[in-house]
Amino acid sequence: MTSVRLTGTKYGCGGGGCGACTVMVSHYRPATKTITHYSANACLLPLCQLHGAAVTTVEGVGSTRTRIHPVQERIAKAHGSQCGFCSPGMVMSVYTLLRNRPQPAMDDITHALQGNLCRCTGYRPIIDGCRTFCQEADCCQANGAGDCCLNGEETLEETQHEKPELFDKREFLPLDPTQELIFPPELIFLSDKDKNLKTIYKVVEKNNKNLGIKAQKNINFVHSVCPDIKFKGILHPLIISPTRVLDLFEVTQTPHGVWVGAGCSLTEVCSLLEKLLPQFPEEKTEVFRALSQQLGKVGSLQIRNVASLGGNIMIAYPNSDLNPVLAAGNCKVSVISNGGRREVPLNQDFFVSFGKTILKPEEIVVSVFIPFSRKGELVRAYRQAPRKESSFCTVTSGMRVFFSQGSSVVQDLSIYYGGMGPTTVSATQTCTAISVSFRPWDDETLQRAYDVLLDELVLPPSAPGGKVEFRRSLTLSFLFKFNLEVLQKLREMNVITEELLETMQIQPLPREIQPGLQVFQHVPKDQRDQDPVGRPIMHRSAISQATGEAVYCDDIPRTDGELFLALVTSSRAHAKITGLDVSQALRLPGVVDVITAKDVPGQKVRKMFGYEEVLLAEAEVSCVGQMICAVVADTRAHAKRGAAAVKIGYEDLPEPLFTVEEASEKSSFFEPRRMIEKGNVAEAFKTVDHVHQGEFRMGGQEHFYMETQSMLVVPVGEETEFNAYVSTQWPTGTQDAIAEALGIPSNRVTCHVKRIGGAFGGKVVKTATLACITAVAAWKTNCAVRCVLERGEDMLISGARHPVLGKYKVGFMNDGRIMAADMQYYTNAGNTVDESPLVVDKILLHIDNAYNIPNLRGRGAACRTNLPSNTAFRGFGVPQSIMVLENMLNDVAMVLGRPADQVIREINMYQGPSVTHYGLEFSPENLWRCWDQCKEKSDYAARRRAADRFNQDNCWKKRGLAIVPIKYGIAFAESFLNQAAALVHVYKDGSVLVSHGGTEMGQGLHTKMQQVASRELGIPPSKIYISETSTNTVPNTCPSAASYGTDANGMAVRNACQTLYQRLEPIRQKNPKGSWESWVKAAFLDKISLSATGFYRGPDLYMDWDKMAGRPYAYFTFGACFCEVELDCLTGDYRAVRTDIVMDIGRSVNPSMDIGQIEGAFLQGLGLYTLEELKFSPSGLLYTRGPSQYKIPAVCDVPLRFNVYLLPDSHNPHAIYSSKGIGEPSLFLGSSVFFAIKDAVAAARSESGLVGPFPLDSPATPERACLACASPFTQKIPASTPGSFKPWALNI
Ligand SMILES: Cc1cc2nc3c(=O)[nH]c(=O)nc-3n(C[C@H](O)[C@H](O)[C@H](O)COP(=O)(O)OP(=O)(O)OC[C@H]3O[C@@H](n4cnc5c(N)ncnc54)[C@H](O)[C@@H]3O)c2cc1C
Ligand code: FES
Ligand code: FES
Repeated sequence: MTSVRLTGTKYGCGGGGCGACTVMVSHYRPATKTITHYSANACLLPLCQLHGAAVTTVEGVGSTRTRIHPVQERIAKAHGSQCGFCSPGMVMSVYTLLRNRPQPAMDDITHALQGNLCRCTGYRPIIDGCRTFCQEADCCQANGAGDCCLNGEETLEETQHEKPELFDKREFLPLDPTQELIFPPELIFLSDKDKNLKTIYKVVEKNNKNLGIKAQKNINFVHSVCPDIKFKGILHPLIISPTRVLDLFEVTQTPHGVWVGAGCSLTEVCSLLEKLLPQFPEEKTEVFRALSQQLGKVGSLQIRNVASLGGNIMIAYPNSDLNPVLAAGNCKVSVISNGGRREVPLNQDFFVSFGKTILKPEEIVVSVFIPFSRKGELVRAYRQAPRKESSFCTVTSGMRVFFSQGSSVVQDLSIYYGGMGPTTVSATQTCTAISVSFRPWDDETLQRAYDVLLDELVLPPSAPGGKVEFRRSLTLSFLFKFNLEVLQKLREMNVITEELLETMQIQPLPREIQPGLQVFQHVPKDQRDQDPVGRPIMHRSAISQATGEAVYCDDIPRTDGELFLALVTSSRAHAKITGLDVSQALRLPGVVDVITAKDVPGQKVRKMFGYEEVLLAEAEVSCVGQMICAVVADTRAHAKRGAAAVKIGYEDLPEPLFTVEEASEKSSFFEPRRMIEKGNVAEAFKTVDHVHQGEFRMGGQEHFYMETQSMLVVPVGEETEFNAYVSTQWPTGTQDAIAEALGIPSNRVTCHVKRIGGAFGGKVVKTATLACITAVAAWKTNCAVRCVLERGEDMLISGARHPVLGKYKVGFMNDGRIMAADMQYYTNAGNTVDESPLVVDKILLHIDNAYNIPNLRGRGAACRTNLPSNTAFRGFGVPQSIMVLENMLNDVAMVLGRPADQVIREINMYQGPSVTHYGLEFSPENLWRCWDQCKEKSDYAARRRAADRFNQDNCWKKRGLAIVPIKYGIAFAESFLNQAAALVHVYKDGSVLVSHGGTEMGQGLHTKMQQVASRELGIPPSKIYISETSTNTVPNTCPSAASYGTDANGMAVRNACQTLYQRLEPIRQKNPKGSWESWVKAAFLDKISLSATGFYRGPDLYMDWDKMAGRPYAYFTFGACFCEVELDCLTGDYRAVRTDIVMDIGRSVNPSMDIGQIEGAFLQGLGLYTLEELKFSPSGLLYTRGPSQYKIPAVCDVPLRFNVYLLPDSHNPHAIYSSKGIGEPSLFLGSSVFFAIKDAVAAARSESGLVGPFPLDSPATPERACLACASPFTQKIPASTPGSFKPWALNI
């Protein structure tokens, strides 16, 4: 698509895990004479798969040049597009849904978006935009529930009348299905040429003859081929797409069940089963129901639309969701080969080893038989995955039991698990233990079965995939859940009569997303209508982003002779490089050159905080993933092939350090280490009622910006001048770094940034290093060189948020007052210094959060390890800092047995005129207002009572609540970074071009700057354009970071506009009734300059670490967040059922942008604290290198009720138009989900008599939450002795 300049379809992962590449595929089905449309991941579709199909990309849906489609319009106008990189994929998923169902239900929309990741928005605005296509009233009343979910608070209706809204749906274009593109009629004729199975054999035979290939058949629908070729370098000499082989799609009903063609997609199988279900009595459709339930959870909709039933069976993944159910359900396959046809049962013998079945290579699965169930038979499926949707499971299971009439004695039982070994496994001994002795199904039988199951399905402590205890406990939990359903069945069969108390446990967690509230304030009554400041103006590029027209770095058209760069990275954590052999790479087609450290004409190292980081390793490597050299070739594929052919010799160096403990033991730190203290901590500990010590470990976080690191460096051709187009938050930093690497002055390098597809702190330091290497290649070859990292490379190379180990000692009184705290933070900085010392500084400056602890000491160290270097990430250490503190407060509450929120947090919060531990005076008034309003809006007290009742009534499901405050310092403590500049040109036609130093990465900075210029010049925003950020228009800029972009650049733009406005004053005086255009024209004729620069010096902030005092922040942004979760204690699965955020952001410049930042940051925080896990192998290799292994929040993680309130009547004299910075502060509020989970876990533990503090590290994944509940099932799992085995993953 790139070659035909269709750049709207984005590439975010290449593995089907992000949905950025979603397209609509349409097929004509001759059997039914219908056209089907389905969404699919373009990155997984081999071309042969598309024979006879019509593919619609986002460009075919609508464009600004013709007409935009209602889906594009609604996602854009509902503020569902921030950086916009995910937007075309979102559009295509919903567009396809609407092609099939023009008036969808809410559930259809969330299903359609299951496989589309967005790292910016928090999904709420996307859902709200799409909700406008639904007909039904979307509130609990739609389901006929009793009390309205909105009772007791502002109802939606009231809100709509009295409060301003983020968008006006009356403006929306109506959806008119008759206007859609039609299916190309010529493709209907192609369907006559559909094939049968014989064709496959002819093709195989012919190829075997021609290519000399033996049994090289590879029938492929999609999924394994593209990733094989792209990521594993596997060559498939023959790929047969059977999409048009009719025999593979036949469905035949028999008296015993149904034969389903193996080529049917999982979506088709699911629809078929759902169609069949009502046609038969329930007792006959047990297998159908279990299968259809499980099918709905396989991957995402895009995956299910293309993955085939036969493919899922034959790929024989150990954690296939279908195989355990098919096997337990007594299904079988019909296979065919030149030798004839045979039927093979799908049982324990079918799955031989990892990815292998007993079928012969030449055999083709034609169809799968799904039998009817018998009276007295029960079939169920269970799964638990790291994320609720679009995620391979941790453990999955299919179970079937058969009772003869009137008896509770088991006649037949089969239990299969996935995720418990290299294949789908049968728990045969367990089944035998239950059924062989003709015992009734009762508690005693089950207890014995648990013990047998534990012995039968043993995982070694270092089993691949880790989570050994959890996986083992899940096998028991699933059996227990099955038991509850069996008991219910036996009760229905009148075999048992006892009342069942635990039926609630088999209900799924709630999942209906309800409309939330976004409450903000009207602009003042006297504000001019034309003045956009304070209004929810749409992101200025949202429409271009939703139509796919928005240009990102990799969308810049290829130039003649352009080369592509692929990196070669270290496979060792700590080693000497003994050899570098590039000869083989250089011989490969298309490879032009290999760039090594020797080629760098200028500085080979970058210096930070006195430490040096080499651009390309020469003598030694200090982490897996360190860059060693780069291959440049004519195409991306050739460059990658070249990179794979480079040979590097290593000699391992002793004792690589991976964990903070190992680093501390060896005193391996990046200096300076910091300490800060107020009061006298040691003395205070002597006078308190209680002293408690604890520790808390927090994992890191991958930025997972949707657009990976991307850059293009173009030599201008004379006087060593270069244009660098880079996806960076800091164009000046990149410009300087390139100039240094090339040994040329900065005035020869221009860095351009049009927009960034998300950054979150990850596109500052590492991006500059990558740009240097690309620039060296451009310099050496004198060609334009492009470098766009694959997702896996990006995750490996570019670093993440710092993992932290926090240790604390806290002294407190009986009433909960904390008198002293001593806190130590160890951050895992990785192999280079990057910004780690600054992260440590910011950690220590936030160890008080919202609390006045009279004696407080903090110490922080950046540990130097042999992991890839970590870097800035939204919040810059604050999310780690406060988390340790809040966990300490929770411990205090648990020691005292008092509520953490209402007692411990409130009693310790700053009151009245306050001073931080570094001597900064401030008023906590708005902090308290946020806190009180949050409690009130969330109806905290009533919800707490309701949760207590729920917990009393439920043994295995618990509800937990939490409310957390935030006080977040805004601006850079390094004073010089607070400056900003702008350049504003007014053209003779009255149009205005604004340039400033900030970059647009989704946060809406350019939109806000447009608003500022509009107000200051008194002209509508439509006359103002912002083209890009570039170092030749506004030089010497600071990074767009620290939530300070609007504050700094806004003042600079204002300054420039005010200068221009004043210059025009005499003209205006002469012609007060004239138009803007007439004034501009007159000014030009009067020789008045229509171009002005603006500058903002920024506040003079500082921190004196020797005196442990300073003014490192301009002001504080405050907020509070409530969260309630429901937790399934048997599996650790949870759902945030409600979130209320109250945020003090002064007077918002643009409420839609600010609410978008709050929601997006909250969800990123939810990911950090409850979901996202970076896993490293014992030799320091990052395992989690893509969305399949690393789960960021998806639509399924959005709180069911998500309300955001901007605090009214707040002013801020320190920032433009009395606003406040908001990019980072609300990320920490995601921890409310963590603490709500912890609250629910505490409720579960208390039932087992476990009270007091307990460890629960972050993220609180289902694994950690389940194990912390300490249920009888987890207690049964024998713990492995630490040190007796090598764990699969490091605990860094
Ligand atoms: C991002 C992602 C998420 C996923 N999530 C899940 C999940 O949660 N749960 C789950 O169970 N699965 C999941 N899958 C697996 C998915 O459902 C597919 O089953 C799997 O990817 C195989 O793809 P396919 O059906 O296109 O088969 P293909 O890739 O076409 O084939 C797989 C193998 O089977 C062989 N084969 C295919 N059809 C036949 C046939 N009729 N006869 C003989 N051999 C045949 C092929 O030659 C090939 O070797 C996921 C896959 C992806 C990419
Ligand atoms: S790029 Fe295709 S799903 Fe991510
Ligand atoms: S707007 Fe969705 S990833 Fe940026």
